[in-house]
Amino acid sequence: MRILGIETSCDETALAVVGEQEGLARGRATAEGRFVIEQNVLASQAQTHAKYGGVVPEVAAREHAALLFPLLHQMEIAHDGSGIDAIAVTAGPGLVPALRIGVELAKTFAWVWHKPLVAVNHLEGHVYSVWLDSVPQFPTLCLLVSGGHTELILMKDHGRYKLLGMTRDDAAGEAFDKVAKLLGLPYPGGPEISKAAMTGNPQAVDFPRPMLTSGDLDFSFAGLKTAVRVYLAQKEAGQKINDIAASFQQAVVDTLVHKTLQAVEQVHPRSVILSGGVSANRLLRETLKGKLHERSPEITFHAPDLSLTGDNAVMIALAGLFKAKREEFCNPLTLVADPNLRLA
Ligand code: KG4
Ligand code: ZN
Repeated sequence: MRILGIETSCDETALAVVGEQEGLARGRATAEGRFVIEQNVLASQAQTHAKYGGVVPEVAAREHAALLFPLLHQMEIAHDGSGIDAIAVTAGPGLVPALRIGVELAKTFAWVWHKPLVAVNHLEGHVYSVWLDSVPQFPTLCLLVSGGHTELILMKDHGRYKLLGMTRDDAAGEAFDKVAKLLGLPYPGGPEISKAAMTGNPQAVDFPRPMLTSGDLDFSFAGLKTAVRVYLAQKEAGQKINDIAASFQQAVVDTLVHKTLQAVEQVHPRSVILSGGVSANRLLRETLKGKLHERSPEITFHAPDLSLTGDNAVMIALAGLFKAKREEFCNPLTLVADPNLRLA
């Protein structure tokens, strides 16, 4: 099977074609294939939105509309639908005007090319980004950390999700972006903070580790952001930005790792998946992998290739492929983008 993936939920415009080398057994949700990225084109609007300090939905939609056809033109295969077995598109969650551009394009292609259409949840896409080069065993525990979401999800099988915990306010990536702004660093703030943190002392400032004793698997990062703001207002002249960045990053990582290990204790997964934009953070990847191995060496750890941590269409195609195998198609006449689409 060969599938075209379309992603326009936020500020990346992306198209990809993913092919499967070995056929999955029809109807068998647990069978695995080998996946090959046959085409992958992406245009980031980050620079456009950096001027505004964050993503402006209407601007994002206009950019998607302007970028999709030039991107399609760059594709050597599939630009006319030949050789494509199905079309997968991010239907939510995300920014409505942005989502709509991709969804309407996918519906149009499905209609005129007579191809089945698969609606993919963006978060499901992030989770499936690790399937490109690994096969996590079920049940798998997913820590999904992005600009819009911070969730712990138990995945019992392909397409079967249970939400274990989520942020009550800011997402982890959002906290990185907001703290970067406070520190005078550009958007998106995650990569900037981790870069600054490389030469900083993570023990310089004792920021709070929120919700560690809340007794549930929820997160909260708004208080940590406020702690940084209060600290900055009071700090003595000369305190290094790098130390503050490193101390903040350490607090976020400690919290995420602590809660994930708490979830491991509760649900006994066979594997752990770390994904979403914040999974590019090296400290988070290494700390979670190391602590998980220390505690339960039998549990495998999976994180996407660094080229697939941020939003992309490969992950949408991958998730779509598994859904297409289960014949979970949708009607191009009735599909609508859903900004609040939930996984579980
Ligand atoms: O998954 P993603 O690309 O978009 C959403 O679905 O939201 O995630 C973007 C988020 C941004 O908040 C960005 O600052 C954060 O991921 N991010 C990072 C790093 N790289 C990107 N956060 C921490 N460390 C990084 N290295
Ligand atoms: Zn994302």
